[in-house]
Amino acid sequence: MKQEGQPIAMLTAYDYPMATLVDASDIDAILVGDSLGNVVLGYESTVPVTMDDIIHHLRAVTRGTKRAMVVGDMPFLSYHISREESVRNAGRIMQEGLAQAVKLEGGSEVAETVRAITNAGIPVMGHLGLTPQSVHQLGGYKVQGKGGDAARKLLEDAKSLEEAGAFAIVLECIPQQLAKLITESISIPTIGIGAGADCDGQVLVIQDLLGMYADFTPKFVKKYANLKEQIVQACQDYREEVKARSFPGPEHTFNMAEEELKKLY
Ligand code: KIV
Repeated sequence: MKQEGQPIAMLTAYDYPMATLVDASDIDAILVGDSLGNVVLGYESTVPVTMDDIIHHLRAVTRGTKRAMVVGDMPFLSYHISREESVRNAGRIMQEGLAQAVKLEGGSEVAETVRAITNAGIPVMGHLGLTPQSVHQLGGYKVQGKGGDAARKLLEDAKSLEEAGAFAIVLECIPQQLAKLITESISIPTIGIGAGADCDGQVLVIQDLLGMYADFTPKFVKKYANLKEQIVQACQDYREEVKARSFPGPEHTFNMAEEELKKLY
């Protein structure tokens, strides 16, 4: 798609019903991201997300996906302890979660791990810039690569990931000029989130796009719907109708024949 100049549209999903809807929208790729921790499990960061959490949600998403490519995120510390453990965990994401690729965060420091995983026949998507698993090291959710030295490091990191065999790289929260330069400097696609319009594709967290996630909306999010308001309103309408005994109505209710009823009295 990069070679043909076709933008890649990717979204996250974490469960079966959402996966079926996203898949029906002709989206190119679905990411079962560790943003699961924030938007589904209610954690403050992605750090508490485990391999078992990712696999549990991946299984639901892959059951609901017929068409799009599904990428499974490698959670915090699942690819840092040793190369062997990293390959084994990537293998679990493929074999148990039934993903078609894995994603992991980091640059040159994870390049050898990316090489080991790709050597095992597993496609790897990189992730550079704001890497949420390192939020405590980065000192918060901030735009990365604004200074020349940091930007040069990210450019070098992108080249190392490509060289190590990654098939695509997520660029999160970096200046658009840097994202453009990286995109032009590597032959694999860049998928941006808060990285401007010059990336080869874009990714958003589905709850953000649908306006469902109330806690925080980053600047790079465009809400294509406001489901939070609609969901709260629907729940309030239901509550009021239950209290007023106007739900369920006759159209939601089952009946038995008069003669059968008489047998009860
Ligand atoms: O976990 C996630 O959803 C991600 C995207 C924000 C790219 O990594």
